[in-house]
This record gives sequence, C-alpha cells and structure tokens, in this order.
Amino acid sequence: MHSIGYRANALLTFGVMILAFMCALASFSDTLNTPTPSATVQVLNFNRFQKKPDGDDEVRMTFNISANLQSLFTWNTKQVFVFLAAEYETPKNSMNQVSLWDVIILNKKDAEFWIRTANKYRFIDQGSNLRGRDFNLTLHWHVMPKTGKMFADKLVMSGYRFPEFYR
Ligand SMILES: *[C@@H]1O[C@H](CO)[C@@H](O)[C@H](O)[C@H]1NC(C)=O
Ligand SMILES: *[C@@H]1O[C@H](CO)[C@@H](O)[C@H](O)[C@H]1NC(C)=O
Repeated sequence: MHSIGYRANALLTFGVMILAFMCALASFSDTLNTPTPSATVQVLNFNRFQKKPDGDDEVRMTFNISANLQSLFTWNTKQVFVFLAAEYETPKNSMNQVSLWDVIILNKKDAEFWIRTANKYRFIDQGSNLRGRDFNLTLHWHVMPKTGKMFADKLVMSGYRFPEFYR
C-alpha cells in the first residue's frame, strides 16, 4: 500500500509535469502568433537644431508617434518595451543610433496609441554631421513573455531629413 507521503509526492510530481507542459505550450503557441504591428511617426517640428559650443550637433524635435502594437500581445505577454530611435549614417560610422523616446506597455488596450511628444532623451551627434542628412526613425520592441524567451523586432521608417541650416 502506498503511504500518504508517497501519494502526495506523486501528486506533486504530476502537478509539476503539467505546469512544465503548460509553459512549453504557452511559449510554443506564442511562436504561432505572427504579429502585425504598425506604426507611423510624423516629425512635427525641429524645435532646436544647433551646434553646441563643443562642436556637436544637438537636435530637439517634436513628433507624433502613432502605433498599433496590439498584435504583440497574447495571453503569455507580460510586457512590451518600446523605443523610438533615430538611425543615420555618418562618414565615421555606418550606423548611429540615438534613442529618443521609450515606453513600457503592460496591456493590450494600451498598445494602440498616438502621442505628440518631444524627444525624451537628448539627441546629440558625435560631431556636426546632421545638416541636410537623411535619417530613419525606427520603432523597436522587446516582448517579455510570462514564460519562454524574449523576442525583439522593429519597424523602420525612412524618408526623414534634418534641416539644411541651424536654427
Ligand atoms: C497624430 O496622429 C494620429 C494618427 O495619425 C492623429 O489621429 C492625431 O490627430 C495626430 N495628432 C497630432 C497632434 O498631430
Ligand atoms: C534606413 O532605411 C533604409 C530603408 O529601409 C535602409 O536601406 C537604410 O540602410 C537605413 N539607414 C540606416 C542608417 O539604418
């Protein structure tokens, strides 16, 4: 006859197995979800575009970010970290990336939004390379699941240009 302790142990093992199975299923079902996020960013104004005394360009701009990231949310999504970056080439670096704004989204209903905002972080070039230069605005996201691996992706928006002259 099985002792109570043995039964409790068997029950616990079974419970842990089910839990492990559910976790595996959760992260697997996540990989079946093909998200289709969309975003557009409008640059509304370059509020400041100057060369600082030390010679580096500094930009302050206002933009309208509108995005629908709801498809990133499944029942296994804990939170989504989103950041907007300006990306551009200079003679020295083939890729410069400056983070302008970010947000943590905790639930699906907040994942569709628009916001009119200035850059939250200072945008300073390493030099004075920005006049008349083309740049991309890239919306990056990192999806943190309740269980399973984190994944990241981005949406590149191109066709932006810095003003020709300081102002
Ligand atoms: C921002 O963009 C959204 C979506 O395109 C639009 O509905 C909203 O009116 C815009 N806001 C501003 C301040 O331009
Ligand atoms: C900007 O986007 C275009 C089109 O997606 C791409 O070809 C280019 O390499 C990007 N530039 C940078 C600096 O990432």
